[in-house]
Amino acid sequence: MAKARKHTEQFKNFNLVVFGGTGDLALRKIYPALYQRFIDGQLNCEYNIVAVSRKSGYESIFQEQFTTFLTQSLKNEKGNSAEIKTFVSKLHLITAEEPSPKGYKTLKEFLGRFKDYQNIFYYSTPSSAFGAISEALKASGLTNDRSKVVLEKPLGHSLQSSNAINDQITKTFKESQIYRIDHYLGKETVQNLMVLRFANNLFERAWNSENIDSIQITVAESLGVEKRAGYYDQSGALLDMVQNHLLQLVCLVAMEPPYVLEANEVRNEKVKILRSLRPFTKHSIKTESIKGQYTRGSIDDVKVSSYLEDIDKYESKTETFVALKTYVDNWRWKNVPFYIRTGKRMKTRYSEIVINFKEVKHNLFPSKERMNNNKLIIRLQPEERIELIQMTKVPGPGGYRYKPIALKLDYIDSFDERFPEAYERLIIDVVRGNQTLFMSQDELVAAWTWIESITNSWKNAGTKNVLYEAGSWGPGDQILNEDESWVTKSWNKK
Ligand code: BG6
Repeated sequence: MAKARKHTEQFKNFNLVVFGGTGDLALRKIYPALYQRFIDGQLNCEYNIVAVSRKSGYESIFQEQFTTFLTQSLKNEKGNSAEIKTFVSKLHLITAEEPSPKGYKTLKEFLGRFKDYQNIFYYSTPSSAFGAISEALKASGLTNDRSKVVLEKPLGHSLQSSNAINDQITKTFKESQIYRIDHYLGKETVQNLMVLRFANNLFERAWNSENIDSIQITVAESLGVEKRAGYYDQSGALLDMVQNHLLQLVCLVAMEPPYVLEANEVRNEKVKILRSLRPFTKHSIKTESIKGQYTRGSIDDVKVSSYLEDIDKYESKTETFVALKTYVDNWRWKNVPFYIRTGKRMKTRYSEIVINFKEVKHNLFPSKERMNNNKLIIRLQPEERIELIQMTKVPGPGGYRYKPIALKLDYIDSFDERFPEAYERLIIDVVRGNQTLFMSQDELVAAWTWIESITNSWKNAGTKNVLYEAGSWGPGDQILNEDESWVTKSWNKK
C-alpha cells in the first residue's frame, strides 16, 4: 500500500457547499477526492460537506446511498467501514428549489451554525445558473471576504457569454475568491511538466525554436459521449477539450519560467502564451484544421454506435474530433508548429506530448539510413511515462550502424506514493487559498478569443465534418493533399 504522508499544515475550518450536489461529478469526483484526503489525514480541521439539490425527499437516505456508492467504488482500496462512516457523517443534503433567499433558507440556517468557518461554494451546475446562484447567496447574506467560489467548465460557449457569466459572478466575488477548475491541471503528470521543464537544465536549454522542430499534443479517448449527449452536442470537441485542457497543456509546454511559483506569476506567463497563439483565418483554417464525427465501428472487438445514434438524432454538425496546426508567435517559438489533436471513440485512450527535436546539423556517419531526430515523449495517461528517443549504435561489426532507442522512465516504477486523483489536489488548493492551478479571467478571455478565430473561420470557410469510423484514429489522409498529411502522420503509427 502507498505510504501516507505526514501533514503538518493546519487547515482552516470550512463548509464546502456543492450546487448540483447530487450530480455525477459530485458523487464520482468531488466527494471521493475529499474522502481520500481525509484518509490521508490531511483534513485536520472541522468541516462540513453540503450537497445542494433541487430535488427534495432524499435528505434522509442521502448518506446511506453515498456510503453504498463509496464502498462499492473503493472496492479493495484503503479505508474501512468506520472511516467511511466518520467521513459520511460530514455529508449533508439540503434542498433548495430555487436560487433565492427563500430557496436558500435551510442552507442559511445550516451554515449559521458554523459562522466562523470559511464558506466554499462549488458550482457543479450548468454555467447559465452561476449568476443566479451568486446573486441569491449574496442576497441571503451567505458571502463575505473569506468566501470562495469554484466554477466548473464550460464557462459559456463564446467570449461574449463567458464574459457575461464573469460579470454576474464578480458582483458577488472578487477575482481573488474565484477558482476556475480545469481538472487537467490537477493531474500529477501535468504538474510534472513544470518540474521536467524548470528543474532540469538539460531540457530547458534546448527548449526553443533553435532545437525543436515541432510539438504534438494528443488527447485521444476511446469513450463516446456517454450520458452527456445534451451537453456535448452543444459543445463539441473544440469547446469541450481544446478550449480548456489542450490549451492548458500548450501553455505549460510553451510558457516562460515564472520567476517564482506564485499564482499570479504562473498565470501571467500562461496568458502571454494564449495571447501569442496565431489566430486562424478563413484561409489558414482550410489547410491547418480538420474536424470530424464518428460513425459506427468497433473498439476492442466490441461494436459501438455512431455519434448520431449516441445522441439519438438524425443530424448534428457537432465535431467529435479536431486537429489543429498552430503557432505560438513569440521569440522562443518562431515557426515551430504545435499540432493539437483530440477525439472521441478513438482506437485507444492515451494522452501524450511529443517534443520533436531537430536533426543534427551534419551527419558524419557513412550510413545511408536516415538519422531520426530526438524525441521527448511525455505520456500523461493512461500510463505515466517519459521516454527520450535517441540514436544509438547497433553493436557489432558493420561500421557505424544506428537506430533509435528509448530511454524510459516509468513514473509508477519510480515512486511508492499513491497517484492522487486530479480533484484531490485542486479541492485542497481551494481550501488553502492557492490559485496557481486555476484559470484566471485573463486566461479565459485569451483562450476564448483564439477559439473564436477557429469557430468564425470554420463558419466563413464552410468547413464540414469529415466522418471517421469509431475505433480508428480519426479522419484519414484521403482528404488532405501531400504536404498537409500532418493530421494523421504520427497519429496513425500507434
Ligand atoms: C472533460 C470532458 O472535461 O474531460 C470530457 O468534458 C472528457 O468530455 C474528459 O471525457 C477527459 O478527462 P480525462 O481526465 O479522462 O482525460
